[in-house]
Amino acid sequence: MSTLTLPVPVKKGPIILSAPSRLPAGLFSRRTLRIGSENAFRIGPQIRELEAQGHKVIKCNLGEPDFPLARHIAEEVKRQIDLDLTHYCDPQGLPALREAVARTMSARRGLALTPDRVVVFPGGKPPIGLTQQTYCNPGDEVIYPSPGFPIYESFTTYLGAKPVPLHLREEAGFSFTGRELAALITKRTRLIILNFPSNPTGGVATAAQLEEIADVIRKKAPPQARIYSDEIYEEILFDGNRHRSIASLPGMAERTILVSGVSKSFAWTGGRVGWAVFPTAEEAAVFRNLNINYFSCIPAYNQMGAALALESPQSAVEIARMLAAFTERRDLMVAGLNSIPGITCRKPGGAFYLFPNIAGLCERLGAIAAYKHLPVGLRARTSPATLVQMFLLWRYQVATMDRRSFGRIGSEGQHYLRLSIATSLADLQIGLARIRTAAEDRTGFEIFIQEGQHLC
Ligand SMILES: Cc1ncc(COP(=O)(O)O)c(C=O)c1O
Repeated sequence: MSTLTLPVPVKKGPIILSAPSRLPAGLFSRRTLRIGSENAFRIGPQIRELEAQGHKVIKCNLGEPDFPLARHIAEEVKRQIDLDLTHYCDPQGLPALREAVARTMSARRGLALTPDRVVVFPGGKPPIGLTQQTYCNPGDEVIYPSPGFPIYESFTTYLGAKPVPLHLREEAGFSFTGRELAALITKRTRLIILNFPSNPTGGVATAAQLEEIADVIRKKAPPQARIYSDEIYEEILFDGNRHRSIASLPGMAERTILVSGVSKSFAWTGGRVGWAVFPTAEEAAVFRNLNINYFSCIPAYNQMGAALALESPQSAVEIARMLAAFTERRDLMVAGLNSIPGITCRKPGGAFYLFPNIAGLCERLGAIAAYKHLPVGLRARTSPATLVQMFLLWRYQVATMDRRSFGRIGSEGQHYLRLSIATSLADLQIGLARIRTAAEDRTGFEIFIQEGQHLC
């Protein structure tokens, strides 16, 4: 009987098929068998199954602002389609958008970025893999935050580079010290990924933390190591926090790849427009060529919409509206979660996620003991937090994400869930009430585990 690992999009993580597969052995490349995924998308079929059964699922799983695309941006996209901007265009990105990116990113960060260093991609996600592919040979090391956006780790393993998770500690506000970073940098380090404000923790770096990180990089990182600063949540900041970028610190712009896009700032995940600003025009040219190889170009009408979004004063009004809603939801949910026995939740400073510690809840429901008694193979694909996540989804119809979904390596023993607050206040209130009831349902949890249908 062959054992084949396939990235089948119905369950979580690469799927181990222990039954004989009808596919010929060796069909997929070894690297294909190593790629991970973004579980926020992968539980979609499970949610649809529950909805088909007539359930209302509270969707706290997706990182997608639940606001419509602002009128001024939508009108511009339509206008550009009417102008027939519907053909191939500059593979590096339209000059109008690259200029808008260079101007706005420079102004906010006190830099002098130029459009020849900007490359436009179909979203903020593609530059993650393309950057690893471009700067890393097999065995080269990628340092990335964990918990962190899952694609960082997924691509590292896919490419045969060495994943080096930088563990964010709750006690440190889900950040890390210069000393912790320094301990991970070696001669083989090629990329150091930073993500502030952070997914999934909502952590925001202080000026002092960034100074410390920059200092370590100056002293210890090899000259070929690039910083990948994923700043896609740059606009989503609470409590008067202002965005800070590592690139603004002395000596950092020369080695930082700055990444952002329209998905979060302008609630435009379907626009598929993101960008990276590279340290040099030569590097940008390499990525321009990758775009030619992979995508040819990004829809021009959306790029024009993005250019307008970046520079129109109306955008600040829309962002402020969105932030007010997120703040209200965050405050309600943080207070509500903290009032449930076994859950503690910090107030995030940015992004639109809560990352409650559910160690106590895992204990109360019996998830830790249940996990210990699972068969070894299954244990490798789940965790106590995953069992709670699945229980909440299948028994209480609240979709959340488990800790494992944000970097698996070294996540054992960490009991967290991520809840997106990009869902209406009314739905969040229903979700909270359901979680509160679930937290008391030890018998229901026991039966759920015994039935054993959805344990990973
Ligand atoms: C940290 C981070 N980077 C990148 C992305 C990808 O964004 P996009 O939808 O623009 O590809 C996300 C989306 O959730 C994210 O959370």
